[in-house]
Amino acid sequence: MIHLEFNSESENEGIARVLAATYMMKFDPTMEEMADVKTAVSEAVTNCIVHGYEDDQGKIFMDISNEGSVLKIVIEDFGVGIPDVKQAMEPMYTTKPDEERTGMGFSFMEAFMDKIEVSSESGKGTRVIMEKKVTGK
Ligand SMILES: Nc1ncnc2c1ncn2[C@@H]1O[C@H](COP(=O)(O)OP(=O)(O)OP(=O)(O)O)[C@@H](O)[C@H]1O
Ligand SMILES: [Mg+2]
Repeated sequence: MIHLEFNSESENEGIARVLAATYMMKFDPTMEEMADVKTAVSEAVTNCIVHGYEDDQGKIFMDISNEGSVLKIVIEDFGVGIPDVKQAMEPMYTTKPDEERTGMGFSFMEAFMDKIEVSSESGKGTRVIMEKKVTGK
């Protein structure tokens, strides 16, 4: 198990993505499985930075673990939170349509991982739990 704590700076998104990919190397993953996990991590961390903390600085936690060949990644922020998680997870729903957001982040996480669970409380933060069975080559 790895626990990573980092600041909500965009350069750290790449580090989080690479760490997740490195952790899963022990399963001898396919290129596609690696790309899927990297995309999901990237979307979740970007959400913490862009939405969770907006223009503020804050901490982001990432836990990476596995049970057998099932990879589990937890990404958590302590920012503004999501008032309606079900609505936020709908394809193309975004609260920042004026920027380059398309509202597809959660949809990508759902598509590329086997399981995603989002819990959030306004003013407290957001936790995303994702799992994926890595079948490998
Ligand atoms: N960590 C978070 N903290 C607060 N709000 C969040 C968080 N993650 C997502 N949201 C809310 O859920 C909405 C949908 O997120 P999603 O990632 O699907 O789309 P997006 O970030 O708006 O656009 P895209 O990911 O395509 O750039 C966001 O617009 C935002 O309102
Ligand atoms: Mg997003």
